[in-house]
Amino acid sequence: MTINFSGKVAVITGAGNGLGRQYALLLASLGAKVVVNDLGAALDGMAANNSPAEKVAAEIRASGGEARANGDNVTDPEGAARMVRQAIDAFGRLDILVCNAGILRDRSLLKMSNDDFAQVMDVHMTGAYLCVKAAAPAMIEQGFGRIVLTTSPSGLFGNFGQSNYGAAKMALVGFANTLKLELGRKGVLVNCIAPSAITRMTESILDEEHAEALLPEYVAPMVAYLCSDACSCNGEIFAAGANHFAINRMVQGPGVTFSGGVPSIDDIAGRISEISTLEGALPYQSGVDHTARLMEEYRAANASGNGN
Ligand SMILES: NC(=O)c1ccc[n+]([C@@H]2O[C@H](COP(=O)([O-])OP(=O)(O)OC[C@H]3O[C@@H](n4cnc5c(N)ncnc54)[C@H](O)[C@@H]3O)[C@@H](O)[C@H]2O)c1
Repeated sequence: MTINFSGKVAVITGAGNGLGRQYALLLASLGAKVVVNDLGAALDGMAANNSPAEKVAAEIRASGGEARANGDNVTDPEGAARMVRQAIDAFGRLDILVCNAGILRDRSLLKMSNDDFAQVMDVHMTGAYLCVKAAAPAMIEQGFGRIVLTTSPSGLFGNFGQSNYGAAKMALVGFANTLKLELGRKGVLVNCIAPSAITRMTESILDEEHAEALLPEYVAPMVAYLCSDACSCNGEIFAAGANHFAINRMVQGPGVTFSGGVPSIDDIAGRISEISTLEGALPYQSGVDHTARLMEEYRAANASGNGN
């Protein structure tokens, strides 16, 4: 099987640098027509200039691919609509959206300004929301779409000084959890990537030793797979970095259902190791499935008169 993107059109946000640039180059080299979006922001989101998007689009065209540059801000509803319109006007359709644009404003909680928090949430979460909202109608209409949202190990597992960034990155997981239900049945699959790579975003915390292992090139094939016809995953989170690729899931342990009324704090304390175990943990397809399982366990526990 040779996966390619012939006839496919992609919008990749924040593709003027780092990971997004790599995704754009790979998809274009496999036949996709690409709108390279990038505001040209500094790492903290300030001081915009459009040149990185132009540069990457030119790089793609110089290697025989098709690309357009777009300098819109993902946090601007009009900008998000414009980048989608640009793809459709230039290339006739839109199949793929990779929401990759991002900024950092690292501070520990007590030193964080409300603006540091709001700006990071705005670019990562609101930016993805606006781009997905703008892109989804064309994808739904054609019954095909692939959307990749960018989460982070920092959100999934935590990192000191990144409460704003971690919150924004986990917000995207929650976003995908609902989109997989709303858009998946229309042929539009939504997955998350949790990359690890040396870019200007991470170069201050990763040293030379990491440079060879953490090339953005090692992340791009996973993202390209999630954008392809071959992908049938929906609502999943894939980590990729240093040539390692792995699924991550929200799961819930088997837990304990008490019977005979509200348990006391001592009842909870007495069974905390059973409540805490992940052995036999399950993922759920939705919050509704989760509640259905709770009800099943509740009825079973109360029918038998014993907690399980
Ligand atoms: N590098 C890593 O190890 C790592 C780890 C986890 C997650 N991520 C995520 O991957 C994505 C790419 O990060 P990167 O490491 O390549 O960083 P990067 O700084 O090299 O690239 C981010 C790009 O987004 C652009 N951008 C910022 N705000 C924008 C806006 N409002 N509108 C349009 N473009 C905007 C920037 O100009 C920049 O070119 C980000 O979402 C980041 O949070 C990166």
